[in-house]
Amino acid sequence: MDFFLDSAETQEISKFHELGMINGVTTNPSLIYKSKKPFRELVTDICAITNGPVSIEVTASSSEKMVEEGFKLAKMASNVVVKLPMTWEGIKACKILSKNKIPVNVTLCFSSTQAILAAKAGATYVSPFIGRLDDSNIDGIELIREIKTIYTNYNFTTKILSASVRTKNHITQSAIAGADIATIPPNLFYDLANHHLTDKGLETFNADWEKSGQKIL
Ligand code: E4P
Repeated sequence: MDFFLDSAETQEISKFHELGMINGVTTNPSLIYKSKKPFRELVTDICAITNGPVSIEVTASSSEKMVEEGFKLAKMASNVVVKLPMTWEGIKACKILSKNKIPVNVTLCFSSTQAILAAKAGATYVSPFIGRLDDSNIDGIELIREIKTIYTNYNFTTKILSASVRTKNHITQSAIAGADIATIPPNLFYDLANHHLTDKGLETFNADWEKSGQKIL
């Protein structure tokens, strides 16, 4: 399973990149707004930090404008993935951009039928938003399972990018359900390494080693 960082903060992206733990980055207009940086500069900076795919979302609502924006975004860096909303206009734009070999991430996917459309339109990635489904009392992980089964049944090559993840359990369950990638916000990413029993165990080992009076180096 690949991990993307769900962030538009260049400092955070650099930190995780240096750890060698991210395979790409996803952004969205809200994350870009929060970063308070000029758009072009931000995209160029993020795409220079990682060689991995960086999803940047269009903001137009007609397919024609989405295609125009998509071409423009793709020209900003070779690792840009054009993020398109899961609407009919987005699907039309996805077909055109994909035919032109521009990778597309179809975002805001909340159902299996939407995921089928994204795959049929040639999307490189589809992003089911599992946390937002859970927020509405719908099992987000079940959607990942459904999409995985459907994509396997029909040999669709679109990658399942588990998005809107909020908990460690979302990551575990996405992996079990067969998601290709999870895009993870920085705070949750940090927390993936934590376990209270690890801390407790390390404390005991260190205390006992101290008592032994020995040294490795
Ligand atoms: C994914 O590409 C989105 O940027 C993101 O996962 C949305 O997450 P949220 O529901 O926590 O805003």
